Amino acid sequence: MDPSQAQRLITELTEKINHYNDQYYLESQSSIDDNEYDILLEQLIQLETQFPQFLSLKSPSQRVGGKPAADLAAVKHAHAMLSLSNLYALADLDSWVDSVVSRLSENQPLFGCEVKIDGIAISLIYRNGLLSQAITRGDGETGDDVTQNTRTIRSLPLELPQPLNLELRGEIFLPRQRFELINQQRHKEGLPLFKNPRNAAAGTIRIKDSKLVSQRGLDVLIYDIVAGQIGQRHSKNLDFLADLGLPVNFHRTNCSTVKEIYAFCMHWEKAKSELPFDIDGVVIKIDDLEQRRALGVTAKSPRWATAWKFKAEKAKSRLISIENAIGRTGTLTPVANLEPVELMGTEVKRATLHNYDQIARLGIHTNDTLIVEKGGDIIPKIVGIDFTQRQQNAKPILPPENCPICGSRLSRLAEEVDLHCDNLSCPAITEGSLEHFISKKAMDIQSFGQAMIRLFIQKGLVGEIPDIYLLHEKRDTLIALEGLGEKSVENLLEAIELSKTRPLNNFIYALGIRHIGEKAAKSIAAKTGSIPRFLDLTDKDLDSVPDFGPIMISSILSWIRNPDHVQMVETLMRLGLNPEPLEIADGLPFANQRIVITGTLSQPRETWKKRLESVGFQVSSAISGKTSYLLVGKDAGSKLEKASKLNVPILSESEMESLLDG
Ligand code: IVH
Repeated sequence: MDPSQAQRLITELTEKINHYNDQYYLESQSSIDDNEYDILLEQLIQLETQFPQFLSLKSPSQRVGGKPAADLAAVKHAHAMLSLSNLYALADLDSWVDSVVSRLSENQPLFGCEVKIDGIAISLIYRNGLLSQAITRGDGETGDDVTQNTRTIRSLPLELPQPLNLELRGEIFLPRQRFELINQQRHKEGLPLFKNPRNAAAGTIRIKDSKLVSQRGLDVLIYDIVAGQIGQRHSKNLDFLADLGLPVNFHRTNCSTVKEIYAFCMHWEKAKSELPFDIDGVVIKIDDLEQRRALGVTAKSPRWATAWKFKAEKAKSRLISIENAIGRTGTLTPVANLEPVELMGTEVKRATLHNYDQIARLGIHTNDTLIVEKGGDIIPKIVGIDFTQRQQNAKPILPPENCPICGSRLSRLAEEVDLHCDNLSCPAITEGSLEHFISKKAMDIQSFGQAMIRLFIQKGLVGEIPDIYLLHEKRDTLIALEGLGEKSVENLLEAIELSKTRPLNNFIYALGIRHIGEKAAKSIAAKTGSIPRFLDLTDKDLDSVPDFGPIMISSILSWIRNPDHVQMVETLMRLGLNPEPLEIADGLPFANQRIVITGTLSQPRETWKKRLESVGFQVSSAISGKTSYLLVGKDAGSKLEKASKLNVPILSESEMESLLDG
């Protein structure tokens, strides 16, 4: 279609739709059925998307919802509709189960596991056995009344065999096959396609014309009763609903151990495509309603339930360009700019490629179509290439030779994959390292921030870390800067002064040595106790630090052997920097030993944790080969098994007491 044709059509459609709108609003009548109306509007939207130069703010497509509001009444939920916390890893599942078990000290809970349907939540109210109201989740407190449309769902009885009063929760969804059919139809009609069954269901439930809703073929599965004739056990309640002829989420089971729960999650993660509808995880809930009450809810979600979310969805997207970012330690990271693509509900436009070895390993060429993967809260990553889409003139992507910021030659250490800019005055490194130095976990210089650092660098007030401690000499210049007044300069200088006595571990972390995070900085501070001893570290000293590997050791040694670094630290000391030594745990009887707690103990877990930490133990949540002991209470699960497999000594509470006494 050429633009002039499009413009004419847009005008025509706009006039028609406005006419029907006026009729509807002003005369409360309509000479067109809603289905036809929707089609007109969707044609208009499509043309406007294709020819945005003709989109006017006055277009009927710009009304809220794109059409006359569907007159949905807002209804306050009698019981709030909460959401669920999410888990993605076995260790998190373990901790969740542990936390539930330890809160319910007496009785071991039974867990109900159900597939998590990927649709839209609905509250269904039966009064005297009649389906009387269906309300969407909305903001959790108030939702929209979609009773009429919900009545079109054939599997949902309008009347129950008994005159019961029930408030139920379920999920409305579109089976995948219906979704495909609807999109095929829309494609034929030139209408925009729905992205996925969930979006299609969400759109459908709000359509004004129930006839159209009925043709779309929505379905529902119920997964909870929140009020009414309720028994003590969730699983029995669902059986009861099924006996009444209600469509109940039937892919469910009861589990008593983490192992069983995990097996159920793994099964459905693999088998999800066998179901006729989309699921995005497994919901794990406590079966006993009394225990649910005891556990209670947090602000957003119940403590008695959580969702195991399936990992990693894949999508394809074309590579637009590669951006080379220089981090605060000078490491170069290639980042792929991609054509936007939706993955797990969010738009992905960028993904890290980590380093040029990774690019070479994957064999990425210019303009390639890449396979992007994203799981839960995990950052999107490139996992492969669709070679069928490779273009003829595509060229392999090669590493740059010079720093994209300062132009100096990049280097690469023999044992590492990263390219590196070694120019300490490279602006990217200066800015990054200053930002890191002042950050909360480092020197915590409050009232300083990224914007201020940028401004100060720009004005030539700071160039390297020691300049921060010379800022007090430039008080007047600072006060004269735009956006800074006397008060804020005062606060800033005070915060800088205060930072001079931050603990040694914070200072070591603040130096931004590669591979040295907060925890490693703590170990080094505990080992050395002072700046001069830190600068004198040898590989022998570092060999004896727990959890230090060769990469960390060589990173520290090469840092302290660089005369520029030593000079900088000495300058800082001359400027008054005098970190407080870390309270050294080394003298404690169980210093640097790891312990894991599991099962139900006779004292609150926190009490045990504090006690163990006070004698030097590091209390961690996962068992590994480095765990020194497992402290075990009643009804322990998978951790106990793992500990025995790894020959980790297992101690009961009384055995632990004697160990501590001894
Ligand atoms: S139980 C307090 N069970 O998942 C909420 N929810 O991410 C208790 N969902 O809003 C929810 N299948 O819409 C539960 N078998 C199931 C579910 C399920 C799907 C949805 C539900 C909820 C969302 C939370």
